[in-house]
Amino acid sequence: MKIILFGYGKMGHIIEEVALSRGHEIVMKIDVENRDTIKPGDLKTGDVAIEFTAPASAIANISLCLEAGVPVVVGTTGWYEQLDSVKQLADEKDGSLVYASNYSVGVNMLFAMNKILAKWMNSYPDYNVEVEEVHHTQKLDSPSGTAITLADGIIENIDRKKGWQKQDINLPKAIDNELLKIVFDRKDGVPGIHKVKYTSEIDEIQISHEAFNRKGFAFGAVIASEFIKDKKGVYTASDIFGF
Ligand SMILES: NC(=O)c1ccc[n+]([C@@H]2O[C@H](COP(=O)([O-])OP(=O)(O)OC[C@H]3O[C@@H](n4cnc5c(N)ncnc54)[C@H](O)[C@@H]3O)[C@@H](O)[C@H]2O)c1
Repeated sequence: MKIILFGYGKMGHIIEEVALSRGHEIVMKIDVENRDTIKPGDLKTGDVAIEFTAPASAIANISLCLEAGVPVVVGTTGWYEQLDSVKQLADEKDGSLVYASNYSVGVNMLFAMNKILAKWMNSYPDYNVEVEEVHHTQKLDSPSGTAITLADGIIENIDRKKGWQKQDINLPKAIDNELLKIVFDRKDGVPGIHKVKYTSEIDEIQISHEAFNRKGFAFGAVIASEFIKDKKGVYTASDIFGF
């Protein structure tokens, strides 16, 4: 498969490594130095594009791919407030899009376990629930897209939580029991830690995932590009992994 990379940073480099190891070819690398010169017609050389850039650039890159008719796998997070308009554009262009806050198999298992646990916990109001995430200090969005997906999975299933609120670990805790806290922390060199914690007066239950490196995200993104290559429509990681 001929792959176009949007973003040749930490993720772009490891995606290249994984893609080559699976017999694919990287036909174009687009980053800030050449992005402005790229026109939709230039993308015709690729079977699929993989986009891992930054929250501010994701939508323009996705639109360019949809305009060019090239299926696109998006890993960038921090733009989902505009997800509905992006889905609409994909629909109008009869395009192919995969988006996911996290492409790792392990985190997608955590997402599925999180929903089951939340369904059980709906009947046990003595437990307070929090989501915690830790990432490296270069991460631009907070809380992480993965933490928001976990929070959404809890809010869908627990009647006593009406929404979520982000909480910097270094600031005093906001008090609003109807809102689920997503506590975020930034530490050098951490690829990603996510935890869901239920605490009562008698015990605590935790489910968590820690990425030791970025390979799991890259592997999942390449699997997603193999999945979307000959399909139309909008998909997310649960459509691919099916847990
Ligand atoms: N979904 C997932 O599984 C997953 C996993 C890891 C990271 N991420 C997300 O992916 C994104 C990238 O992560 P990273 O660690 O590789 O970041 P990074 O900063 O190391 O790399 C981003 C690259 O994108 C480039 N870039 C910026 N604007 C651009 C534009 N307009 N067009 C093309 N390239 C541009 C930058 O120059 C840089 O080289 C972040 O949003 C991060 O949160 C998602």
